[in-house]
Amino acid sequence: MRSFAGRDILSLKNFERNEFSRVFEVADELAPFARNRQNTDLLADKTLVTAFYQPSTRTRLAHEAAMHRLGGHVTGFADAKMTRAGDFYQESIKDTIKMLEFYGDVVVMRHFEKGAPHEAAKWASIPIINGGDGWGEHPTQILTDLYTVLKEKGTIDGLKWVAVGDMRMRTMHSLGHALTQYDCPITFVAPPGMEMPEEYEKDFEAMALDFSYADHVGDVIGDADVILVEPTVQPDYTKSRDERSGEVPTTPDNYKITLDLLKNKAKSDAILLHSLPRMDEVPDNVDISRWSRYWQEAFNGVVMRMALLALITGKME
Ligand code: CP
Repeated sequence: MRSFAGRDILSLKNFERNEFSRVFEVADELAPFARNRQNTDLLADKTLVTAFYQPSTRTRLAHEAAMHRLGGHVTGFADAKMTRAGDFYQESIKDTIKMLEFYGDVVVMRHFEKGAPHEAAKWASIPIINGGDGWGEHPTQILTDLYTVLKEKGTIDGLKWVAVGDMRMRTMHSLGHALTQYDCPITFVAPPGMEMPEEYEKDFEAMALDFSYADHVGDVIGDADVILVEPTVQPDYTKSRDERSGEVPTTPDNYKITLDLLKNKAKSDAILLHSLPRMDEVPDNVDISRWSRYWQEAFNGVVMRMALLALITGKME
């Protein structure tokens, strides 16, 4: 297995099955610290730099929380407008990262341009974690989701997935790449205009992912062991910030997971994942149903980032 020490985490394409397993093992080892709300000193001599060019609640704060749990330090920015990349200078990724690499030992970057973390990785002498890039990928979110499935179902292989939402969404691309390493058929359900981009379809076909499409979640939810939902009503992820304005549309029934749909059509032991934030595609009354696992994803999101930080800093092999 390739070592994680010093590695960038930019994409789940070419992430090997045994590498997923190792990340999940390390997550298991470190989970007790998070569960017991304790900090340790594993990364006491390391600093994480957060470079967020797009809003985030979970990804930035879960990385920061993970670093604190491991006794490390955190610096960085959550609003690029307050940096030289967001003012008159429009400082380039290259020039910015050539500074940040001296301010810490790992950078987690979210950016509105697909490929921006890859560009940073070209110039940085320290590892870059992709915290979501435009309509590109969101590897740490899908590592969190697979870890959640493993914890909740005891296995990843052999489970049938249904993924509902906007297939341009970065989580969907990381998910497809990840499932190429497992025996997991997946059905994608997306509105017209939000179909899976061809470049990802080609990658999935090349790696023999068993995938299909459906128009209505109600037609396929009955077969699913794992239901993963993303909004179809959402901002433009290629913008640094997309404010809400005017009338906000509602989610059509085809792409909505209601309690009635779960009660009437889903397997009683299926699990429902949502990386959040949400609009109306999963109503609040689903939250305490036996299907929902999104709050567990929140906890696992910290544990997963602890595992990645421990591995890429070389503190665990
Ligand atoms: N799931 C996720 O990426 O959430 P944030 O946008 O809040 O980071």
